[in-house]
Amino acid sequence: MTQEQQQTKESAPTGRDSPQRRSIKSFVLRQSHMTPAQQRAIDQLWPQFGVDFQAAPLDLNSVFQRAQAKILEIGFGMGTATAEIAARLPEKDFLAIDVHGPGVGNLLKLIQERELTNIRVMRHDAVEVVEHMLADASLDGIHIFFPDPWHKKRHHKRRLIQAPFVAKLLPKLKSSGYIHLATDWEEYARQMLDVLQGFTELTNSAADFATTPDYRPETKFEARGKRLGHGVWDLVFIKK
Ligand SMILES: C[S@@+](CC[C@H](N)C(=O)[O-])C[C@H]1O[C@@H](n2cnc3c(N)ncnc32)[C@H](O)[C@@H]1O
Repeated sequence: MTQEQQQTKESAPTGRDSPQRRSIKSFVLRQSHMTPAQQRAIDQLWPQFGVDFQAAPLDLNSVFQRAQAKILEIGFGMGTATAEIAARLPEKDFLAIDVHGPGVGNLLKLIQERELTNIRVMRHDAVEVVEHMLADASLDGIHIFFPDPWHKKRHHKRRLIQAPFVAKLLPKLKSSGYIHLATDWEEYARQMLDVLQGFTELTNSAADFATTPDYRPETKFEARGKRLGHGVWDLVFIKK
């Protein structure tokens, strides 16, 4: 059995009404090459900047050792945009989550190179982190930039931005906190708009799609999309 078949088998639903029915499986872990520098960054910097998964709420102020605004980023990829945003917004703290090992190593390397102190990194399924580790009203913002679009219709169930997951995310935001999404896939952008507009506790900061906020630089995935001729759609909604 290939690794992909194994993943698919493991993620088979256990039945619509079963309490064990698993939540979204939004990624497939592929074998990818970790450079020696990325591995070294993990070996040396994880104790200082890494956060291990635990099935209990995390005290974010004690993790960052200060009581500044806390932003969650889901799916940082190689972490280049994450490091740039953290450098632009030194007064905010960023909990950055991805499952991709080389990206985790790369972000840790960027933290060291840029001497950033306001990022902590998790290598885990963000869905589980949201479900088990984040206290209600603990976040000032949520960034999800270019989540995997899962283009094929039969894969749409793997998309992160669906009402059931957003319903789990929103209680983690404080009142006046924001959720900022971006995508280069127009049909997913419309789905994102429909999903967020369905929550009465959210207000759209724009008429529909937002102008890209100044703090968000171009991400790696966005640059790739633009090379392929894709557009870019940002959405920024505020919690009442
Ligand atoms: C298309 S990439 C975009 C990366 C980056 N935001 C960018 O714009 O370049 C999506 C990323 O989300 C990560 N991802 C998908 N589902 C995830 C989950 N449930 N938990 C953590 N990371 C996830 C993937 O590993 C991948 O790195």
